[in-house]
Amino acid sequence: MSDSADKAVRIETTVVHAGRPPRIAGAPVNPTISLSSTYIAGPEDNPPLYAYAREHHETGRAFEDALGELEGGLALAYGSGMAATTTVMGLVPIGGIVVVPHVAYTGALNVARTKEERGEIIRRPIDTSNLAEIEKAVQGAHMLWIETPTNPTLAITDITRAAAIAHAAGAMVVVDSTFATPMLTNPLSLGADIVIHSVTKWIAGHSDLLMGATVVKEEVLYDKLQLARVLNGAVIAPFEAWLALRGMRTLAIRVKEACSSAELLAARLSEHPAVSRVSYPGLPSHPQHELAKNQMSGRFGSIIAIELHGGKNAAIKLCDSTKIWMHGTSIGGVESLLERRRRWKSESPEVDDSLIRLSVGIENVEDLWSDLESALNSL
Ligand SMILES: Cc1ncc(COP(=O)(O)O)c(C=O)c1O
Repeated sequence: MSDSADKAVRIETTVVHAGRPPRIAGAPVNPTISLSSTYIAGPEDNPPLYAYAREHHETGRAFEDALGELEGGLALAYGSGMAATTTVMGLVPIGGIVVVPHVAYTGALNVARTKEERGEIIRRPIDTSNLAEIEKAVQGAHMLWIETPTNPTLAITDITRAAAIAHAAGAMVVVDSTFATPMLTNPLSLGADIVIHSVTKWIAGHSDLLMGATVVKEEVLYDKLQLARVLNGAVIAPFEAWLALRGMRTLAIRVKEACSSAELLAARLSEHPAVSRVSYPGLPSHPQHELAKNQMSGRFGSIIAIELHGGKNAAIKLCDSTKIWMHGTSIGGVESLLERRRRWKSESPEVDDSLIRLSVGIENVEDLWSDLESALNSL
């Protein structure tokens, strides 16, 4: 934010202004792309901020400063969401217990499973939207891993209460907040110790790069993650950092538009005879709708999961029938995407065979609906 900005501003303003260079006459309004692996060394007893780009670089810092301001903590960027995930999971000591969701993003669950198979950690998979299950599972655990809303079933966890329970048992709380974005939920302010984002999704927002991030409040934790990032080399390239920051400038309006379209589409999908189930936290029928209303700034994200009466084959046909919605994996771009999740062998068998994940973009909502409706009518 500008040196002269001394008043707290709203998040829609912060997202536009955070991480810019100081306002000095003749300075650029955007950070530059610093294409240098190494920096001129200063005196050993007073080294400059930058030495080698695997530790930090100017463009990466600009992105991290901006995200840190949005989430209210200290941010670090990584080469992908998975690099952030693996780095955070690496904080668990050998033999440590990690409580994980039974259904969530498959990549994170696979990291935990692989580490368990190697004898590095012990997993306790539970329904993390159920506080009673958390209470039992966190006893003796090192880490509670939450994803809210979850990918792809859209379950919501009460972060405040889950964090209080986990902390009382001495466990660290990690929240993958990719689906919520900093615009809808700020997990650190609700008691989380570490927030993870796949920046690849809404934050960057244009399906043109891979990037991840962690945000923490405590400097000690920041230093541990920073050291792990340096040692793993899980860094971001300056161009990606610049592109992600450029994308992030429009996060507020993209999220606002996509969320209001998703609300309308979820309601209409609920009425369609080919659809057997709609999961969307904004629908009053969602089991945690009231919690989502409190925790998610009055908007509910832009992912909808639908299940079809026609089962797997109908889902496959639907994915191939739309003209505007693109059939592809991933979420959070300006373009609307859809995918049958069980096409991936790694997806949980608890996810229905016909479940299609819809990532709502920023196209005209009536165009999105008529495309989807005619594909559904053709089943
Ligand atoms: C919730 C969630 N977390 C993390 C990731 C991993 O992010 P990336 O693809 O940037 O490695 C994904 C990817 O789909 C995701 O959906």
